[in-house]
Amino acid sequence: MRRANTRFYRRPRAGTKPAPPEGAIAAAPAVLTVVGARPQFVKAAPLSRALRRRVREVLVHTGQHYDPDMSQSFFDELDIPAPDRHLGIGSGSHGRMTGRMLEALEEAMREERPDLVLVLGDTNSTLAGALAAAKLGIPVAHVEAGLRSFQAGMPEEINRRLTDHLAQLLFCPTPTAVANLRAEGITRGVHRVGDVMMDAVRQNLARARRRIRGAGDPQPRSYYLATVHRQENVDDPARLAAILGALQALPHPTLLPVHPRTRKAIRRLRLRPGGNLRLRPPATYLEMLMLESGARAVLTDSGGVQKEAYILGTPCVTLRASTEWVETLEGGANRLAGPDPARIHRAIRAIERSRPRWSPGRVYGRGRAAEAVARVVSAFLARRARSRVKRGGR
Ligand code: UD1
Repeated sequence: MRRANTRFYRRPRAGTKPAPPEGAIAAAPAVLTVVGARPQFVKAAPLSRALRRRVREVLVHTGQHYDPDMSQSFFDELDIPAPDRHLGIGSGSHGRMTGRMLEALEEAMREERPDLVLVLGDTNSTLAGALAAAKLGIPVAHVEAGLRSFQAGMPEEINRRLTDHLAQLLFCPTPTAVANLRAEGITRGVHRVGDVMMDAVRQNLARARRRIRGAGDPQPRSYYLATVHRQENVDDPARLAAILGALQALPHPTLLPVHPRTRKAIRRLRLRPGGNLRLRPPATYLEMLMLESGARAVLTDSGGVQKEAYILGTPCVTLRASTEWVETLEGGANRLAGPDPARIHRAIRAIERSRPRWSPGRVYGRGRAAEAVARVVSAFLARRARSRVKRGGR
């Protein structure tokens, strides 16, 4: 078990509360936001900014991702406020991790007494946050609601389905997400707001271009960019070997920022990736934006990376049999290949033959999703406060 690496956080001393953030109204209703894994830090950046203009936010980091380059680098680059609480849960089996988070989050929520708990995406931290809040009778808001891969055993699919059924406010990025919820009987509290990752890209792309472009960077369009971290690909030795074999045989160099789960598997299986494949440490968010926008194509099993490639106009090959982001498949912007080397190579050849074009704003909005979430959340809390006053107290 890993302990919280408190060195990386400017945490308040035990028993003290940090000063309310500038501009926040101390008496305003409180939203407790739960984050824990890399994709949540990216989404928390625009959301925290927008929320803190209207409510008091308590940011809780479960500790699910703890390596500095999986966590602290995102807080630094994206100016995310330091977490008010760091639970230091670290990794473990799904049940153990989620169980420990549930217990620690319940305690944090009892002490902070938030008016609403906000969770993001589909990780174990998301489910633990939603479940802890629901059991305490605290309303739950889910950002990135309604996404479905229809892959029954996938951990993220379990997390997102259960979270949606616990939430009172469901913020959907796309019309497909709204339709998925309707098909499960969820129609109340559903808001289509666009995608907060679009906000993050719009707020950071210019900075990424200014700060990162340097001597060591690869020439635009001279490389492919790959990421592999899904349990289904990494924990199955044959699939991982097939994917790495396909990547090393691509016609241009392929950069692979290696996720810790993948690094451990490569070591355990004594794989020696070579050929055109270049392994490197996990990229920071700004580096990733640069690498994604300069790549000939992106090959990935990550939902977030598929979407960022789509937003940045870079064609994508998805190393899974299905995707939650079905809109990206239109017009060949994204192609499903799974782990099969022949299909991966066929998809890359198709992209190289005819470079597809598309317009991401139509699907994911214009980068105002976080503001829309903050507006709906504060109106919801104001309504609840009014009805409490009518009933005569808290
Ligand atoms: C998690 C999310 C996934 C998200 C992904 C982004 C779940 C079920 N999955 O998957 O939705 O797309 O994050 O990265 O929540 N590890 C480290 N150092 C770290 C973090 C993880 O060594 O900083 C190791 C853990 O010890 C574990 C493995 O990586 O062995 C997997 O980590 P885990 O948090 O279970 O899930 P991810 O694969 O990262």
